[in-house]
Amino acid sequence: MNELFSVSPEGFEYPLPNKKDYAKEYEEIKKLADKARNEGKEIVVVMGVGFVGAVMAAIVADTVDEHGDPSKFVIGMQRPSVRSYWKIPTLNLGKSPVKAEDPEVAPLIRRCVLEKKTLRASFSYDVLSLADVVIVDVQCDYAKNALGNVHTGEVEMSALEESFEIIAQHIQPEALVIIETTVPPGTTEQVAGPVFKKIFHSRGIQSDPLLAHSYERVMPGRNYIASIRDFWRVCSGINEKAKEKVVKFLNEVLNTDEYPLTVLDRPIESETAKIVENSYRASILAFMDEWSLFAERNGVDLIKVIKAIKVRPTHSNMIFPGPGIGGYCLPKDGGLGLWAYKHILGFNDDIFKITPSAIDINDTRGLRAAQLVRDALRNMNIPIATTEVLVLGASYRQDVGDTRYSGSEVLIRRLAEMGAEIRVHDPYVDRWWEFENQDVYPKNSKVRFFRNQNKLSRLKVLKELEKALFGADVVVFAVKHKEYLDLEPDKVIQATGKPVAVIDCFGILDDEKIKRYLELGCEVKGLGRGHIRRLKDLINLDHS
Ligand SMILES: NC(=O)c1ccc[n+]([C@@H]2O[C@H](COP(=O)([O-])OP(=O)(O)OC[C@H]3O[C@@H](n4cnc5c(N)ncnc54)[C@H](O)[C@@H]3O)[C@@H](O)[C@H]2O)c1
Repeated sequence: MNELFSVSPEGFEYPLPNKKDYAKEYEEIKKLADKARNEGKEIVVVMGVGFVGAVMAAIVADTVDEHGDPSKFVIGMQRPSVRSYWKIPTLNLGKSPVKAEDPEVAPLIRRCVLEKKTLRASFSYDVLSLADVVIVDVQCDYAKNALGNVHTGEVEMSALEESFEIIAQHIQPEALVIIETTVPPGTTEQVAGPVFKKIFHSRGIQSDPLLAHSYERVMPGRNYIASIRDFWRVCSGINEKAKEKVVKFLNEVLNTDEYPLTVLDRPIESETAKIVENSYRASILAFMDEWSLFAERNGVDLIKVIKAIKVRPTHSNMIFPGPGIGGYCLPKDGGLGLWAYKHILGFNDDIFKITPSAIDINDTRGLRAAQLVRDALRNMNIPIATTEVLVLGASYRQDVGDTRYSGSEVLIRRLAEMGAEIRVHDPYVDRWWEFENQDVYPKNSKVRFFRNQNKLSRLKVLKELEKALFGADVVVFAVKHKEYLDLEPDKVIQATGKPVAVIDCFGILDDEKIKRYLELGCEVKGLGRGHIRRLKDLINLDHS
């Protein structure tokens, strides 16, 4: 009897496979793959069916040839860990293992699994031997050992390195391996390459492995699928053959007619492109942090300033950072670059100034939002430790349910440290794993950097806004979800039942709303919104 279970987010329990299940599983998949091959289909194994792999697998499985017939049979390979095994039976039922706001995701997966039968998930590594193409979508995390000091962190390469070994042990020598994982620059040639060569050599294979790198720019959200299929790609290969093969494959599965490929000379250039792309974004966001503080202290509304500047086309991508920069990529990718420079590429000096500062600034911006809550309550003569704070928005950006590294987490942890009781509302998030699992995976949790966090493991995300508002002392607008943009101050204060402290972290409130909250007896503060004092003086003048 196997007593280990993997539990899906909906609470379904799936027993992990036993030793004897493996042979049967492989036989079953082999039959399907043989049939597909006889029909002229290429066999593609996607390793890791997480946020990226699950949807990428479905996009590949939906590919058709020039006659409109399916041209790929895809096996989504996922290791049967307690944490992730449930993704396999879920996919095989035709259901998406990732929560997606894009209405196309669920029908795409259902169509490929149940109707076209071009997608199947499996736990057996042996299926790798059936592949013409392997796509690597396993994670490569960057573990931070302090809040706001990316330098002290390190890359967690073990899952990825293990994947390279497993793939090299199983694949046919001619199979193309595309690494889509965001990796420390140098990984394809200096980590994967040697592993593959050594293992190929031990298997008596003379040919060079066909390794390629092509990074994902996926944005889980309303355009989840389009952000993979209908978007520009960069790629490169370890040798000419690998390069040719990856170009051919990506041209077949992605909409490269409208979004052409960029082919770079070497994989380190493709790997570096991903890291620079995200470090650039992290830096322009972090850059606004000091100006946000400047604005707060000098009567300036940074939201209006940014709007005024953006009129100039050269500056149109300026963005206000909100209470922190989250998502899976921006907080970690620069760290992969710093780490690679030292530990893969062998340099001892420290050339990086802007990239680590940007990450550190973004990681701690939520603390500033917590200070605003404290300051607003101080102005109302209310000690923060006696209050109930309602945070509107748990996810890392507007209109999505992804909470990874969201600014709201840091804000809430700091508020809990100061003794506040916390409530959260989010229309897109059902469960907030970063809090629920803080005791299960404490080493991966930001819980380590704060005191007084015990209660937070029971934090529930509320769905009914009116109920959430009732009796709150503070309302924090933390995420720009569309549901919060048109909230009328009178309705909000009717629901709370009393004047509250209102904290705007994202430039959500226009001046009319700020004034109305002030008129209703609320204290209002906002990140980057130094002009609120002026609005307050105006109201006091009107009333005197
Ligand atoms: N999520 C995003 O928004 C996004 C965007 C662009 C790029 N990326 C990059 O894509 C990569 C994957 O990210 P993700 O969000 O899909 O991660 P994820 O954690 O959701 O998925 C990774 C999956 O790989 C599985 N896995 C780990 N080791 C395995 C093994 N040996 N065999 C089979 N499966 C294994 C894990 O169990 C998990 O299901 C990362 O490098 C990430 O930086 C992610």
